[in-house]
Amino acid sequence: MENLTKHPILEIPDRKKIEFKFDGKLLYGFEGMVISSALFLNKIKIFGHHIKDRSPQGLFCANGQCSQCNVIADGVPVKACMTPLREGMKIESCNGLPELPLEDDPVKVDDINIVNTDVLVIGGGPAGLSATKVLGEHNINVILVDDKSTLGGKLVLQTHKFFGSQEEVYAGTRGIEIGKILGEIVTNLETVKIWVNSIVLAIFSDGLIGIIKNMDEYALVKPNYLLVATGAREKMLIFPGNTLPGVYGAGAFQTLVNRDLIKAAENVFIIGGGNVGLITGYHAIQAGINVVGLVEGLPQCGGYKVHEDKLKRLGVPIYTNHTVISANGEDKLESITIGRITDRGNIEPSTEQTFACDTLLIAVGLDPVDEFYHKAQQFNMKVWIAGDAQEIAEASAAIFTGKIEALKILKEIGVQITENLEELEDFANLMKKKPPEPVQTEVIEKKEGIFPMFHCNQEIPCNPCTSVCPQDLIKTVDDLITQLPYFTDDQDCVGCGKCVSVCPGLAITLVDYRKDEESPVVTFPLELSSEKIEVGRKVIVVSNEGELGEFEVIRARFLKEFPKTQLVSVKLPAGIAKVAVGIKLIKSFYNEPMDFYQLSHTEDDIIVCRCERVSVGEIRKWIRYGVHDFNELKALTKAGMGACGGKTCTSLINRIFREEGIEHEKIIPGTKRPLFIEVPMGVFAGIKSEKGGK
Ligand code: FES
Repeated sequence: MENLTKHPILEIPDRKKIEFKFDGKLLYGFEGMVISSALFLNKIKIFGHHIKDRSPQGLFCANGQCSQCNVIADGVPVKACMTPLREGMKIESCNGLPELPLEDDPVKVDDINIVNTDVLVIGGGPAGLSATKVLGEHNINVILVDDKSTLGGKLVLQTHKFFGSQEEVYAGTRGIEIGKILGEIVTNLETVKIWVNSIVLAIFSDGLIGIIKNMDEYALVKPNYLLVATGAREKMLIFPGNTLPGVYGAGAFQTLVNRDLIKAAENVFIIGGGNVGLITGYHAIQAGINVVGLVEGLPQCGGYKVHEDKLKRLGVPIYTNHTVISANGEDKLESITIGRITDRGNIEPSTEQTFACDTLLIAVGLDPVDEFYHKAQQFNMKVWIAGDAQEIAEASAAIFTGKIEALKILKEIGVQITENLEELEDFANLMKKKPPEPVQTEVIEKKEGIFPMFHCNQEIPCNPCTSVCPQDLIKTVDDLITQLPYFTDDQDCVGCGKCVSVCPGLAITLVDYRKDEESPVVTFPLELSSEKIEVGRKVIVVSNEGELGEFEVIRARFLKEFPKTQLVSVKLPAGIAKVAVGIKLIKSFYNEPMDFYQLSHTEDDIIVCRCERVSVGEIRKWIRYGVHDFNELKALTKAGMGACGGKTCTSLINRIFREEGIEHEKIIPGTKRPLFIEVPMGVFAGIKSEKGGK
């Protein structure tokens, strides 16, 4: 693993090197990095060993949710993924249970500050930011709380351009840019206070909300209205080897690569063909990481077709109707075995294949982080919920639902609003819709002049190409955002290339017959190189079906408005000009399967509760004995009693209930822990920093 030194989209700043020790060895990281990223930078994926079975432990969520990444930093147990690296830090791996430092100095106990505000917004991601913007622009006093050092939430990981409409959700702009734009707007609003590095601990029955402000001071906030925009957490999956270091969430990978600028892997395999899995594959390639393959259990990927096409064009094998049989390795991931699924859900004999890889990314969906919302409802607080916490969808939908919920709060406060909430809700529902089946499109007959070719054939909510055309020559059918775009041909296209640059799916090309009808010039978008492609260089031109051949570049340029999308023009034979969709710079590297490798496993080897190392077999045994109550399961197995508080295993245990034919209504949910995360007791007594942290 190494530090990223160049990236087609991300700026690589000069970062200050800092020294630290891990298990006595002198290493370096960069200022501003969290401990887990510094360890990955130094090729360390094993952060400790579990007390119960000595199994190696490492990163899973990189988001403070799963509690797998514990290390001892300067004598104190901490989550490596949430703790900033400091110069001279002494970090030790956490083997067994962490020991608390011996400490019996008297401590100073402080009163806890109670802060009143009109609205408390929990979560500074797309929904929280957009809600805060609306509220702040109406001069409402808002406190916006986020647990990271930078506002933006998942936007800071998203290097791709957004779908949706330009007007409503900044479509065509990259997530990282949208995060900056919204962050800057809310920071400059006079009535908005921003608390970054601040973690909401609990919601209390008297309407007070306990927050560790700036990782140091415990504060109680009394809001009149609460908006929960806490996003989502990644789902785990049950298979042998699922907790090996090197097996982790796609979001965690994006954090390592896109936020902390580490080339976190050499060869990744991805489970899950939804948008998260597909986009993460593309992000890996942009960072120079080989994507060995992607498995999807269904007959088709569930994400946008344009995202899938982008990966396929670059030669990434997508194995639909396949599943992971096992992740293999001694103490960290070395390979993955996949197999084809039969109609009955079994593995079809002789379809098993094993591929070498150092990283397996799990992208099988998200669970809403909605605990605060339900707690606030239970205590009869005035509470709203937006973004993924409300319903899992694209970040552009989260921006929109943040706005809607903020408008509802304004209405409740008594502020006059002009927006029609019903219409806005309809639009939000459109944005949240699952992508439909692709449709058959006709190839334009025209063979003269210059015009855009649209290679998107799925009706998803997206129309930035219609907004950027200076001649207004691109429309969607019936002007609906969910319909496919077309070229109106009312007047001459000027060939500006803006539609090619803005398209989030990289699915528009410009075909120019003006100079030579037999060899038109085709212009493609390219987001795989930070350097301008030299004229005369040969590139591989591809259709959605495969490679079309090597052709010379005759022009390469960046438009001022879209500085990271390079427009590369190539002369092509007329016969392939309209099916050519993209270019690639290197030949696809096909990873041959290794000799088939699979140890025999039983369900007793497959972990469902990572914190307490409880197996699928154990949970299934108790369910078969008739246990339908999570609290009983907890008492019998300790599942859900570990550091993460059941955040990772609950949905997996629900799945085992389903497999056992237990209806959802018959399952008795477990009691939720009053505190959202683990916290030293001293915090509640107002003991600050190191003292509170021990
Ligand atoms: S990896 Fe750090 S809490 Fe999940």
